[in-house]
Formats: sequence, C-alpha cells, structure tokens
Amino acid sequence: MNYPNAVDVFGFNKIYSSTFGKKKVFALTDLSLSVPAGTIFGLLGPNGAGKTTLIKLLLGITFPDSGSARILNEDISNVKIKSKIGYLPENHKYPSYLTGGETLKFFGQMSGLFGSPLDKKIDELLDLMNLSKWKKSKVRTYSKGMMQRLGIAQAMINDPELIFLDEPTDGVDPIGRKEIRDVLVELKNQHKTIFLNSHILSEVELITDNVGILNKGKLLKQGTVKELTEKKEEYRLSLEGQLNNDFLIGIPGLEKNKDDYYNLKVADTPELNKVIDSIRSHNMLIREIIPVKNTLEEMFISLIQEANKEEKR
Ligand SMILES: Nc1ncnc2c1ncn2[C@@H]1O[C@H](COP(=O)(O)OP(=O)(O)O)[C@@H](O)[C@H]1O
Ligand SMILES: [Mg+2]
Repeated sequence: MNYPNAVDVFGFNKIYSSTFGKKKVFALTDLSLSVPAGTIFGLLGPNGAGKTTLIKLLLGITFPDSGSARILNEDISNVKIKSKIGYLPENHKYPSYLTGGETLKFFGQMSGLFGSPLDKKIDELLDLMNLSKWKKSKVRTYSKGMMQRLGIAQAMINDPELIFLDEPTDGVDPIGRKEIRDVLVELKNQHKTIFLNSHILSEVELITDNVGILNKGKLLKQGTVKELTEKKEEYRLSLEGQLNNDFLIGIPGLEKNKDDYYNLKVADTPELNKVIDSIRSHNMLIREIIPVKNTLEEMFISLIQEANKEEKR
C-alpha cells in the first residue's frame, strides 16, 4: 500500500428525481470523507440516510451530480480499479440450486480465475469463512449468517484491496454476527481495507477503526469510536478510607453514584486535578478515576435527534 487513504470523497452531491421530476430526494449533500488504508470503516445511519447511495457512487453504479472521489489512489472514473475492489450488495441472493462452492466458482470465473488456482482460492475462502463443511450444500439450505459469509467470500474472490460490504450483518443472529465480525477482523489482519454500511451500531463499535455518522444525506460526524464516544469532562471516581461526606457533598460537580462511587463533572483537566488534590488533602484515597463514555448508540441517537431538531427550526 503506497497511499494513505483507500477512499477519499470530495463533496459528493446526489439528487434523485422521481419519474416526472416533481419530487426530489437529496440522497447525499456535500459529503466528504476519508478511509485510511488497512482499516475498518463503518458508515452508520438510519434507513434512507444515503449509505447505499454512497457505495453505488464509489463503484460507478450511479453517478454524482457534483463532487469527486478517489479509490486506491485513482479517480473513480478509472475502471481499472474495479479489479481491486470487492463488493457485497445489500440483500444479495444467489441461485438456490447452486452449492456454496459452485457459487464461488461462478463468480471466480467472472473475475478471470480458472482451474486449480480458482479451486485453491475457493477452498481458502470457504475455510476463512468457516464454510468448508458446507461447500457441497445448496445455498437454499444456508442460514442467513452463512449466506452473508458466502457473500463476503464472493466479494473476496478477486483478492481485492478494498471491500465494500452493504449491511453485512442485517438479519443475522447474534452468533452469526460474531462470526462475521471475526471474519472482518481476519481480513483486516490481511491488510485489506473494509468499508461497511450498517444501521446496527452496537457491533460496529466492536471492530471499526473509524466511523462516519450519516443522516438524511449529511455526514454529521467522522472519527474513531473512541473520539465519538468519550464524554471528555465526566469521570467516575472510586474512593477509599474514611469518607468525609459533608466535605464531598460540597464539591461542585460531584455526585454520589452508589456505594463509594462518585460521578464528577469538570470543565477541564486542571479542574479535575484540583478536585483530586482537595479530596486527597482530606485524607481520602482515590482508588480509581475512569472517564465516563457514551455508548456509540447513545451518541448516535442524540446526534440524529439533534440534527432532526435543527432541521425543524
Ligand atoms: N434509485 C432511486 N431513485 C429515487 N430515490 C432513491 C433511489 N435510491 C435511493 N433513493 C432514496 O435516496 C435516499 C437514500 O437511500 P439509500 O442510499 O438506499 O439509503 P440507506 O442505504 O442509508 O438506507 C432514500 O430516501 C431513498 O428512498
Ligand atoms: Mg442501504
């Protein structure tokens, strides 16, 4: 990899018009984002946010009204980059009469693979996706999770550098989701870049390096999960020793949580240290200080609610 970002989007706008052009949908508005090479990026947003539209634009399935993008250091108009990309579409279906192995063979041949290199690749991918046992079973017998893993294998058949997965865990049960997460981490270990769309937050936060939050075509935030979920000024303290409750109650921003745990809200680090000093000077011991974090889901919901409120104003 001799480029810092696998994907760079510069100011995409996409408007869909209905048949008679009367109704316009602003699917993406002035959208810019970057995905560092070799990382897992999660694009999060409710249904209709524009996630699938963004993937379609990047893949050249549809075109932006304005804006540009680069993939793997090439402008997206360069069709040659498609040979280095894998794609698992949303709600994909394979012919039910094919086996898992036959499905991959079909897609492999479309990518120009034949003979023993293809057979080897198929076995390697089925093994990676934990599907080896099911190679000769028809896909109609596959569970939703197995279908998604087969879909990821299909997206990997041409050994791409960058893989787009549109809602890879949609409709998959918790164990199936865990298996998919493990597979994605394994792909990252192989230095692949993964761009995934999801409206399911709790699991995205477990594996993504960066996330973007999309709502009604606008990117509300982009950053690491850590950056987006850290409430900078809130800490949880746990104290030991003889607790001087009268004194503690007097500290602004400090609230008893439970037992010997306290929640502390401060403006900045110097103020935090001042509180620590005064607690210590009253002969109490601090056992731990933990920054309080939002879950990604809490952050997501409040961000979307805030954006929707702004819009109504
Ligand atoms: N081909 C299309 N024609 C008209 N409107 C569309 C088309 N595709 C998507 N849209 C609309 O664009 C918006 C974004 O859709 P989409 O990108 O599928 O969102 P997501 O994948 O986040 O659910 C939605 O309002 C959707 O109805
Ligand atoms: Mg979608």
